[in-house]
Amino acid sequence: MGENSFCLKGKAAAVTGGAQGLGLAMAEALAKARASVALLDINVEKCQTEAERIRSECGVETLALRADVRKLDEMEAAVAQIVERFGKLDIFVNNAGVCKNIKAEEMTLEEWQEVIDINLTGVFIGSQVAGKQMIKQGSGGSIINIASMSGSIVNVPQPQCSYNASKAGVIHLTKSLASEWAQYNIRVNSISPGYMKTAMTEKTLETDMAKDWWLRLTPMGRPGLPHELGGAVVFLASDASSFMTGADLIIDGGYTVW
Ligand SMILES: NC(=O)c1ccc[n+]([C@@H]2O[C@H](COP(=O)([O-])OP(=O)(O)OC[C@H]3O[C@@H](n4cnc5c(N)ncnc54)[C@H](O)[C@@H]3O)[C@@H](O)[C@H]2O)c1
Repeated sequence: MGENSFCLKGKAAAVTGGAQGLGLAMAEALAKARASVALLDINVEKCQTEAERIRSECGVETLALRADVRKLDEMEAAVAQIVERFGKLDIFVNNAGVCKNIKAEEMTLEEWQEVIDINLTGVFIGSQVAGKQMIKQGSGGSIINIASMSGSIVNVPQPQCSYNASKAGVIHLTKSLASEWAQYNIRVNSISPGYMKTAMTEKTLETDMAKDWWLRLTPMGRPGLPHELGGAVVFLASDASSFMTGADLIIDGGYTVW
């Protein structure tokens, strides 16, 4: 392994859902490893503030773009702007996602579809626009999909079948794309976090339910913090993981071992 194989200097990265939470923390980790970073989100104002902060704190180029992962045209336009500004695209993190806790027998088709559209179809769209650009460049790349431990296990006690199904889909989509794009030296891997403290979970983590179920079932007995995914995303983005593709890195404080 080369001395600087974790270094991302000269690489151009993008993170969807980059305005806050895990996406923002991963964008910061990539910037600290010296990559230029584009934050993509439907909340572009927050992206602008954070992109400016990362630029001044890390001394790398940053970009804030409004892009809904469900919209192919918006995602194509975002990649075009990244390439115009950074000259290329090497690392793409499909992170945007939502969760709905609704009983299966009560869920409307619209509610089901929204989760699948953002969490699964959004990852396909992001991968397709990034993969096409990487294939065109001819220099390979790394696509990192944020799945969840919910893609391998069923969370209890809250009902979330659409989320669980979408994340299982992300893990298998990751393997499928890894198989198709290995010939272009594009590596595609996923990260599957357990319970992490973000806007998605913050309020629930304060409840007795979370203490009785979520934290009791986590061997480490606590939620993960967003920055605790930083090492994994830099590893998967960098040459340190050059022989790794189609893999799912579970980072869950041990939840899935029980
Ligand atoms: N927080 C957890 O415990 C946890 C655990 C496992 C996996 N995850 C996954 O990690 C990812 C990030 O979650 P988080 O906890 O940071 O959530 P979050 O709600 O804090 O942030 C999600 C971000 O995605 C953006 N977003 C939502 N819909 C979008 C769309 N259509 N297009 C573009 N951006 C959109 C939001 O504006 C927001 O900035 C999600 O895919 C989530 O499923 C989270």
